[in-house]
Amino acid sequence: MQRRLVRKRDLEILLTKIAPHPQPRAHLEQYTIPVETATEILYLAAYTYGDIIGKTVIDLGCGTGRLAIGSVILGAANVVAVDVDRVAIKAAVNNAKQLQRDCVQWITAELSALRGYFDTVVQNPPFGVQRAKADRVFLKKALEVGHRIYSLHRSSRANIMALKRTSRKQTPSLTLVPPSSFIERFVEKAGASIKAVYAVKTAIPHIFDFHTKPKHEFFVDLYIIEAGGDDAHG
Ligand SMILES: C[S@@+](CC[C@H](N)C(=O)[O-])C[C@H]1O[C@@H](n2cnc3c(N)ncnc32)[C@H](O)[C@@H]1O
Repeated sequence: MQRRLVRKRDLEILLTKIAPHPQPRAHLEQYTIPVETATEILYLAAYTYGDIIGKTVIDLGCGTGRLAIGSVILGAANVVAVDVDRVAIKAAVNNAKQLQRDCVQWITAELSALRGYFDTVVQNPPFGVQRAKADRVFLKKALEVGHRIYSLHRSSRANIMALKRTSRKQTPSLTLVPPSSFIERFVEKAGASIKAVYAVKTAIPHIFDFHTKPKHEFFVDLYIIEAGGDDAHG
């Protein structure tokens, strides 16, 4: 198990070797997380919140495995990664082999079939742009199977406006922002609580025909959520 601090730069270099999805499909919102975004999130989870090293981690909607393999690199005890798409899982398996981090359990499955309990969930779900409420399905499952949850969501309009106003002062990559009232209610209803929300800088390259710019840079909100007590998991 990795107990020595991994330098941020070293993590970034290793994650760069993880290829994105070879044939992304729009309806599954198969955007591969940029290396810098994955590094920020994993580093925060590991070294600020203590939720990776020695923990059981699940990556929901793992795609080609950047968050799952990154968790192994930082010292997770056990990593499971699930995606509905065979092509993504095949690419993830190859990526892990190439980096000699092939201890992840890769599962090709629809999220709803998943059972179990993990210390930490990491997920970059579809934002529900192509299929309405796709993000909610992920959040619901994460709250069912995880204790601490790191989940990326579209920024609320209020946060976008606030960040636009401050961007001239060079907003740092991780900025604390308020939660959306919808997600706050959703989480509370599940008996869980939001620990923090960070705006994280990210980008989408031009990969689908409907994209109009070579690269779209924006902020997403990273929710850190703590599920209810052990009773919630039986
Ligand atoms: C935005 S991509 C993120 C991929 C990867 N986690 C990353 O950050 O690079 C969302 C992923 O969720 C997967 N997905 C979408 N709906 C799913 C479902 N119902 N069950 C399992 N995986 C799903 C897609 O195939 C896709 O790989």
